[in-house]
Amino acid sequence: MEIIIARDYDEMSKKAAQIIAEEIKKKPELVLGLATGGTPVGTYRELVRMYRKGEVDFSRVITFNLDEYLGLPPEDERSYHYYMYSNFFDHVNVKPENIHIPNGVAEDIEEECRRYDEAIKEAGGIDLQLLGIGVNGHIGFNEPGEELMANTHVTTLAPDTIKANARFFNSEDEVPRKAITVGLGTIMKAKKIVLLASGKEKAGIMAELLSDNAVSTKVPASFLLLHPDVTIVMDEEAAQIYLEKKGEVRA
Ligand code: GLP
Repeated sequence: MEIIIARDYDEMSKKAAQIIAEEIKKKPELVLGLATGGTPVGTYRELVRMYRKGEVDFSRVITFNLDEYLGLPPEDERSYHYYMYSNFFDHVNVKPENIHIPNGVAEDIEEECRRYDEAIKEAGGIDLQLLGIGVNGHIGFNEPGEELMANTHVTTLAPDTIKANARFFNSEDEVPRKAITVGLGTIMKAKKIVLLASGKEKAGIMAELLSDNAVSTKVPASFLLLHPDVTIVMDEEAAQIYLEKKGEVRA
């Protein structure tokens, strides 16, 4: 596991965008797994900037998003569809037919989950998976629990997640209680994983993840300890407790 500690949010975003652009340069038809949430907004902004300068070309890239709220149609501003188009797809040259996001309003949700897994398989699996992390250690919407699911499935959001994501809605009550998410199996089969963490709110979970040697369904991100190619890019605020525990406090 490689750990990169960036000075601040902007540096974290630039570093993450550079890693993604390098992988696309190596393999123009990269299968790219994408994340939402507040953390990767800066990474998308940087990738858009690089695209405008001709530094990266998405014309052959295939994308698969991690998750979508159940019941929010693509045109709903709070949906991850809307987020992805407004932050990224509307500004770069990913071909529309190469964009995949789970459909949160599919008539047959079980079928949608199966279809999504099949599409990932047909594309040859994820080459590079971008991840954020929930305050409770969730990745995608794989929430802590007694067991974790391997494949794409419907999940019930944890109270911590509802609270954390309420900032994107008018109130906590409006946050959908369920979502479609790819499973831990799909994430773990990605050839390379880049996990981003930013801000004080993530310092506790990052310290837990990086200082403990234990893998537990109670901390879904801990499964990344078993993956052969994970890069963590976090800013100093997110790294604070981890560095304190290691005895390396940064001024
Ligand atoms: C959200 C998303 C995750 C994301 C995480 C952290 O609920 N489902 O994919 O990584 O929670 O979000 P944020 O970056 O806003 O802290």
